[in-house]
Amino acid sequence: MIPNLGEKRMTTELERPLVGQVALVSGASSGLGHACAVALARAGAQVVVNHHPHDIDKAHEVVAEINAFGGQAIPFPADVSDQAQVQSLFAQAKQIFGTVHILVNNAGIQQDAKFTEMSLDQWQRVIDVNLTGQFLCAQEACREFIRRGVQKDLSPAAGKIICMSSVHQAIPWAGHVNYSASKGGVMMLMESLAQEMAPHRIRVNAIAPGAVRTPINRDAWDTPEALNKLLTLIPYGRIGEPDDIGRAAVWLASDASDYITGTTLVVDGGMMLYSAFNNNG
Ligand code: NAI
Ligand code: BGC
Repeated sequence: MIPNLGEKRMTTELERPLVGQVALVSGASSGLGHACAVALARAGAQVVVNHHPHDIDKAHEVVAEINAFGGQAIPFPADVSDQAQVQSLFAQAKQIFGTVHILVNNAGIQQDAKFTEMSLDQWQRVIDVNLTGQFLCAQEACREFIRRGVQKDLSPAAGKIICMSSVHQAIPWAGHVNYSASKGGVMMLMESLAQEMAPHRIRVNAIAPGAVRTPINRDAWDTPEALNKLLTLIPYGRIGEPDDIGRAAVWLASDASDYITGTTLVVDGGMMLYSAFNNNG
């Protein structure tokens, strides 16, 4: 039950709804992970900024950005596709902050190739990072959420998991079968996990971004020609910005979404609206 809060506490809850909670964001040294880490920290969470071992400098910049506005964050390297590294990531988070309340399962990559030319390594690496990485992090998170249980003064939920999916969990994508298969897998991972974890008061949801301006899709927006072509796919008429996703992550992590589990929140400016049909098909 959401407690009956006084007006002052209510204001704080609206502005900084995650005070007292610990969030772990995977792949937080860039793009959407960076935006989620900053947004969660602004909402009051203490943040573990996970980064790929190769991305240490960028992760330290994210931590410095959070510290600069008075937020609390630590960087921690781990390749999310490696179980031992994921286990030490969560062990470190627990050692420093005591527990974890929120996981943003964000780390992801593309390794694009025509299907007939895609190597097994390209297939496997994308599945390992985008899908197995989310499995490994979610498993560690759920174990901790169940061990700790609900802390009623913080949230009616024992934990919240937000899986970064994509519109390509539903939109087929030629030349990217490894990626779209990984995101289709993320969708069923999220929904099955939500079903299994609900009795533990663990909420599991996904965000499905459309095209958002980050390094992963630079080719799609870094020239006027490319951007104009991309915009033909987006009815709302603009590319997404990482903060669009950061705000969605805060809402899904907060008690404002307490009755929501097993849902994909599409944040895509209408990319999934079949806009080719807007003129009578
Ligand atoms: P990005 O390339 O800017 O960031 C990806 C992050 O993941 C980087 O920080 C990278 O170091 C990290 N990473 C990669 N492999 C890792 C590993 N093995 N272990 C730990 N961290 C690792 O790309 P972006 O756009 O921020 O992507 C983040 C997530 O958002 C991905 O899951 C991607 O599939 C998803 N997404 C992005 C969209 C976009 O338009 N930018 C749209 C839909 C989904
Ligand atoms: C991909 C981006 C792409 C977007 C929309 C994302 O999942 O990572 O490269 O721009 O989907 O197609």
